[in-house]
Amino acid sequence: MPEKINEISQRKNEHLKLCLTDKVSFKDKSNGFENYEFKHYAITEVKRDSISFESDFLGKKVSYPFIISCMTGGTEKSEEINSRLSIAAHKLNIPLGVGSQRIALKSLESKNTYKVIRKNAPNIPILGNIGASELAKKENLNKIQSLVDMIGADAMVVHLNPLQELLQGEGNPEFTGFLKYMEKLIKKISVPVIVKEVGAGISKEAALKLLEIGVRGIDVAGAGGTSWAGVEILRNKGDQKSLFWDWGLPTSYCLRKISKLKKKYNFILIGSGGISNAFDSAKAFALGADFTASARTILMRLNKDDIDGVIKLVTEWFDILSKILFLTGSGSIMELGKGKLIRKDKLC
Ligand SMILES: Cc1cc2nc3c(=O)[nH]c(=O)nc-3n(C[C@H](O)[C@H](O)[C@H](O)COP(=O)(O)O)c2cc1C
Repeated sequence: MPEKINEISQRKNEHLKLCLTDKVSFKDKSNGFENYEFKHYAITEVKRDSISFESDFLGKKVSYPFIISCMTGGTEKSEEINSRLSIAAHKLNIPLGVGSQRIALKSLESKNTYKVIRKNAPNIPILGNIGASELAKKENLNKIQSLVDMIGADAMVVHLNPLQELLQGEGNPEFTGFLKYMEKLIKKISVPVIVKEVGAGISKEAALKLLEIGVRGIDVAGAGGTSWAGVEILRNKGDQKSLFWDWGLPTSYCLRKISKLKKKYNFILIGSGGISNAFDSAKAFALGADFTASARTILMRLNKDDIDGVIKLVTEWFDILSKILFLTGSGSIMELGKGKLIRKDKLC
């Protein structure tokens, strides 16, 4: 039986509540960045004040290569969160993703909970969002363009969440025909398509198939940050010792593998999944990410210190990043990718 709007809204609110706690972190798995150290460069001549973080995101200039990851929409509470996130993103001039627009496919009543973003942030890149299981329904293919138009999206993000759908009581772990529908969507809609996971990572093999059909961006959303298996287990009062809690490929592993595909394909590689400080972000760039992104870290900071807290968090991260660039003798983020990282086991 198709899920009712109030059931989806209730689930969204439960997700938000749980994601404002640390209960939903991975238990025994990290994003893997602690296995790396930066190579200190004692003869650095880099001038910190000449470092620029300005970047191009699908043709728009942004001030930092950092995205506030797709989180919410569709409910009263999420309208208020989207409103504050978009003010922060506008002031920072960085891209922002909306949460799944699934509710808007069912009812246009929820559209203001998403539209508030474009109203508050007229110029930043905004990313639409829909789940792979929704895309894999024939009747939805023609409706995705309306989701793009609703928020003036610069790209459409399709999220892959087989683990979450599998563990969610009311989930729909049914993706038959997904790649075929993706290929049709890419040909049909007016904006580029980006694919992301939600915390279990994307392998090189999966990325290759996606790039072959024309996907323009891959956000690895790897393991080590928010465990969506954990979120659903807690919602369903399931077994907290379930081995699926920590399922997934660590963010650093996904980046290291998928960045090799840049030799052949032109795409934006986004590093996310447990990026919670400037060092994680810097290591993600050094492993090949063009942009990094965070979800729960931003949500928690918004909840604690409001819009100014989010602005402070991002500006402080990039200030620390400029210190890392200085100490590694890197004039730009691009240069971080040129042998500036050492695996810890190679240090002795
Ligand atoms: C409250 C919350 C809601 C989320 N909802 C969505 C969503 O609707 N669509 C989506 O693609 N990802 C969603 N995510 C997943 C994030 O975009 C991100 O991929 C994941 O949480 C891993 O990043 P993190 O470790 O920085 O939290 C959500 C995350 C949070 C914290």
